[in-house]
Amino acid sequence: MNIINLKDKNLYYIGGVVRDELLGCKSFDVDLTYNGDAIEFAHTIKDAEILRINNPFGTVKIKLNGEEIDIASTRSETYPQKGHLPVVEKIACSLKEDVMRRDFTINAMAKSTLTGEIIDYTGGMDDLKNKKIRVLHDDSFIDDPTRILRALKFSVRFGFDLDEHTKKLQDEYLKNINYDMSYKRLKKELEETFNLNNWSAFERFINQGIYKLVASQDFELPKYDFSKLISEFKPENIWIIYVGLMPDISALPLTKIEKNIVEKFKDLAILRFAQNDIFTDFEVYKAFKNIPIESVIMYSTINHEIVEHYLKDLKDIELEITGEDLKKLGISPSPKYQECFNFILKKKIKNIQLSKDEEIKFAKEFFCKTQNFYN
Ligand code: CTP
Repeated sequence: MNIINLKDKNLYYIGGVVRDELLGCKSFDVDLTYNGDAIEFAHTIKDAEILRINNPFGTVKIKLNGEEIDIASTRSETYPQKGHLPVVEKIACSLKEDVMRRDFTINAMAKSTLTGEIIDYTGGMDDLKNKKIRVLHDDSFIDDPTRILRALKFSVRFGFDLDEHTKKLQDEYLKNINYDMSYKRLKKELEETFNLNNWSAFERFINQGIYKLVASQDFELPKYDFSKLISEFKPENIWIIYVGLMPDISALPLTKIEKNIVEKFKDLAILRFAQNDIFTDFEVYKAFKNIPIESVIMYSTINHEIVEHYLKDLKDIELEITGEDLKKLGISPSPKYQECFNFILKKKIKNIQLSKDEEIKFAKEFFCKTQNFYN
């Protein structure tokens, strides 16, 4: 665990960082809670520079001996609008009340910065041992449906199962989803879940009906497991490859890049190369070359053989010859240039070893054949 350089009897590590330390995993960030008012506490720390204060949330950022540290006050919350961000009910409540607003028992443990004692009001230690994900109360998913995705994320990340009652609450919620929710928060959890590139997460997402949080239409698990293509070809935007396959995800606030990936996949899907149709390598290359690799991988759910062939054998083929080279040959720019490049590309796809000189030879041949002006 990243130990911070500050100890106090009321200061606790809390949430994910405690869970990760007990599991022996690396933590992404260190959350600290002061049992009381963290802002007042910050003012009493010798040599601390206060960098930022957020009064409504009772949080403070300080700099101490060169280290930036975020400290939250213990706080209780309510969800006046179910599915949206909670509002703070009380700042400087008890540590127990702070813990009870959280998602799962494994995320609800605190560890004293002073003594190292673990405070476990909800049975988180037992659930860690038994590899269970358990909510703290029956309204947990109603308050915050993104927790259904968080449960999936943690179960895949740690190899845990949902406790039976928690699974029942999840099923009940998914039968009666309140679509008035924060899709920004949902998107964040989708990203974190599917960036893990774990096929079993996708199986559970679909088979347990979790996808219904985002897509209103039915959706089935694709037969082809494309996670190995993702591991091999390392696209940047992994999560959208999974989530973008669903028929309608317009509720999610996608970036321009993500929207383009989904649109390009849909364009390809309209083409629908039938599984048994024979396509020339040139046609496959042309169909995939200028679209995002994420869209190409998505297309593997329609025809994985073509996609595998493209990614393994064709993707990196590039012509070396340029328009400048054609100009140097004395050929003035015209749409014929493109035809010429396609002619050479077909040769290069058959023989990827083709050198630039050979490409130029084929260019000459092309213009000799198609136009009489070239000698
Ligand atoms: N939390 C919650 N409900 C949410 C999100 C967060 O109760 N929808 C609580 C949990 O106690 C969690 C803590 O806030 O441990 C911090 O949230 P976050 O940083 O998102 O989660 P981590 O548990 O730290 O997970 P990760 O390792 O993925 O960062």
